[in-house]
Amino acid sequence: MKKGLMIVLSAVLALTLAACGNNNEKSGKLADIKEAGKIVLGTSAEYAPYEFHKNVDGKDQIVGFDIEIAKEIAKDLGVELEIKDMDFGNLLAEVKLGKIDFVIAGMTPDEDRRKSVDFTKNYYEATQAVFVRAEDKDKFTTMKDLEGKAIGVQMGSTQEKIAKDITGAKVKSLGKTTELVLELKSKKVDALIVELPVAQGYVNKNPDLFLTSIVPEYESGGSAVAVNKGETELLAEIQKTLDRLTAEKTIDKWVSEMTELADQ
Ligand code: ARG
Repeated sequence: MKKGLMIVLSAVLALTLAACGNNNEKSGKLADIKEAGKIVLGTSAEYAPYEFHKNVDGKDQIVGFDIEIAKEIAKDLGVELEIKDMDFGNLLAEVKLGKIDFVIAGMTPDEDRRKSVDFTKNYYEATQAVFVRAEDKDKFTTMKDLEGKAIGVQMGSTQEKIAKDITGAKVKSLGKTTELVLELKSKKVDALIVELPVAQGYVNKNPDLFLTSIVPEYESGGSAVAVNKGETELLAEIQKTLDRLTAEKTIDKWVSEMTELADQ
């Protein structure tokens, strides 16, 4: 009888200690980030106004409305922001490996991606857009006009999926949107698919480019922040910052400012 009680008591004690230990030294990304005093952002800075390179006071900087959001997230967590710039197609692998803590890159949450990462709610909504050389503007008015054409898209993007579904399309996937624009101008491709604010930016500043009225369908054109699967605490903290920025209507303001700032 007594021995039995002792065993039960020590089991209870062991469980209590384990629970306390858990409380004192929390595990997971959020705790690591606070401990390190910095959070590492993964992005692909060639997608103005989301994120892009800009020479500010003679220094190359990564700017954009996604970057403003990342800064606010770091500020709310009380840590420094470190930015790692890479090809869009590598972002999810890097977050899985733990080399970056979160992704903000105009990334659209979709079913495939949800298998490997967790997303916040969309912090920004956009539609898809198609732009072409101005001289071809009358040739592209419906989705059908894209059939059999050479279409440029970013590697690993949702636009790549859209293009691959177009009958007979010759899809050219490249790592960077900036390279795609050169391909379009030099007639190596006939049309590019990107999110509307990106297309708008290029067309505004390049009279030789034209924004068509074609709007390809996709499950979403919205953007969300991604973290490694299961990092629920970190995700919840990031969501809080996004909710605040949404309530303050700050993101829309940044979108216009950053569209102005981009060189393209
Ligand atoms: N929204 C698209 C996607 O999720 C394209 C995003 C491209 N972003 C970038 N930073 N290049 O695939």
